[in-house]
Amino acid sequence: MPAVPHPPWRVPLVGDALSLSARTPAQSITEHAAALGDIYEVRVLRYPRMLIVNSAALAEPVLDDRNWTKVNGPAFRRLAPMAPTGLLFTDTEDAVWRLAHDRLQPAFSRAAMRRYHAAMNPVIAEHIRRWGALPQPINVSDLTQDLAYDLITRAGFGAELTREQRAEFVDTMFALIRTTNRGKVIPFLDAVLGVNPVPPHAQALWRHVEMVVDSGSGEAPLSAALADTDPERGAPLTRQQAVDQAVVMLIAGHETTAGTVAFALHELSRHPEAADRARAELAETGRHPGELEYEDIAGLRYLRSIVDETLRLHPVAPAFIRAARSPATLGGHRVTPDDWVYLNLLAIHRDPSVWTDPDRFDPERFLAGPPPLTYKPFGTGARACIGRALALHEAVLTLAHLLHEHDLGRTGYRLDIEEFPTLKPRDLTLRVTARAAAH
Ligand code: HEM
Repeated sequence: MPAVPHPPWRVPLVGDALSLSARTPAQSITEHAAALGDIYEVRVLRYPRMLIVNSAALAEPVLDDRNWTKVNGPAFRRLAPMAPTGLLFTDTEDAVWRLAHDRLQPAFSRAAMRRYHAAMNPVIAEHIRRWGALPQPINVSDLTQDLAYDLITRAGFGAELTREQRAEFVDTMFALIRTTNRGKVIPFLDAVLGVNPVPPHAQALWRHVEMVVDSGSGEAPLSAALADTDPERGAPLTRQQAVDQAVVMLIAGHETTAGTVAFALHELSRHPEAADRARAELAETGRHPGELEYEDIAGLRYLRSIVDETLRLHPVAPAFIRAARSPATLGGHRVTPDDWVYLNLLAIHRDPSVWTDPDRFDPERFLAGPPPLTYKPFGTGARACIGRALALHEAVLTLAHLLHEHDLGRTGYRLDIEEFPTLKPRDLTLRVTARAAAH
């Protein structure tokens, strides 16, 4: 069997760490793909060998849950101490994963989605109107973050936070993530030390999350799910398990959607024809976006295709990691259950054998029919994103309000993507001006 290629400058003990950017690992992994091809390996310190998969053809077999299982890679291992029993971080075989999954599922049912819709609509309207009154240009990355956090706390938990409380949470979260990213100084330092301590700032984060859980309304879908004691769905969650799930929901439930909306606005500012087509679709409803019912949002097919295309080009969760359940071959290379297989969506979503002109922003491609199997911005199988429907609904609704209310003006901003480890445009600025026809 041929040797698996690896990045240049491999050094004893450290492995390939020097070839990877600690601040933007997903992007540096993707840069190597150009030279190393559809599959290559990375070895870093004591971590298992990681096979990087960059093509749709090689990714496809790995999407099969029967032969592959989720593993937490370096980023999740660093974040897991924030919520050790949190849905995102537990093993599929761990009973607590099934318990938390079954408890939370009703919070993403159709009935729950209707509640989110009703709660989100006025919040989005209020934020979007305010954007137009701010000194221009505005920092879209910050404002989408604040909006998305307001939405998950109010619509998900029924908790009304002040702007200051929201800003404090977002600051604490980033401070915490930055501390866990000690790899910025020495990549994968925790692997050398063999420790994964609970970092400073965690106490402040937990206090905030407990405040949201305790001040929320039992009627809101996520609060209701965490407090549910129906024996049909197993044992009630302990306080600690409930807080862990809330940590995951509050972080995964806003950071990703905020990044998606910010990337979409970046693309729309560069493609005014797409923005106009979405406005025409909205005009056809004959109503203000704030008056649309839950069911109407599914009819906004072009707006939805803008979100789909945004997540193709900018998968905010840029990869997920799997391990083989038994020895396997991938691209002619032997894979053992000890290896990690990194499905690199930044490359797979732009595979030219699947997507024509893959770097071009073209929402139209999602109108033709279902996307290819390897379009996986929300992961796959049993461990796919539980919040997918909520995220898509929220993104479409936010864009509907924004495009109805404002014109988008560019500022000369050049795309610079930061990784937390989810992706978002760093300090994206745009000018928004109220549209005469908006009311
Ligand atoms: C555009 C927005 C979003 C994207 C792109 C996204 C992406 C993903 C991906 C790729 C995974 C799988 C990770 C893996 O296999 O390791 C995942 C899992 C998860 N997501 Fe999302 N997500 C988004 C929004 C949300 C929202 C709004 C929530 C909650 C309110 C949420 C909660 C979760 C949870 C709890 C998991 C773990 C599920 C499990 O392992 O059982 N996500 N997400």
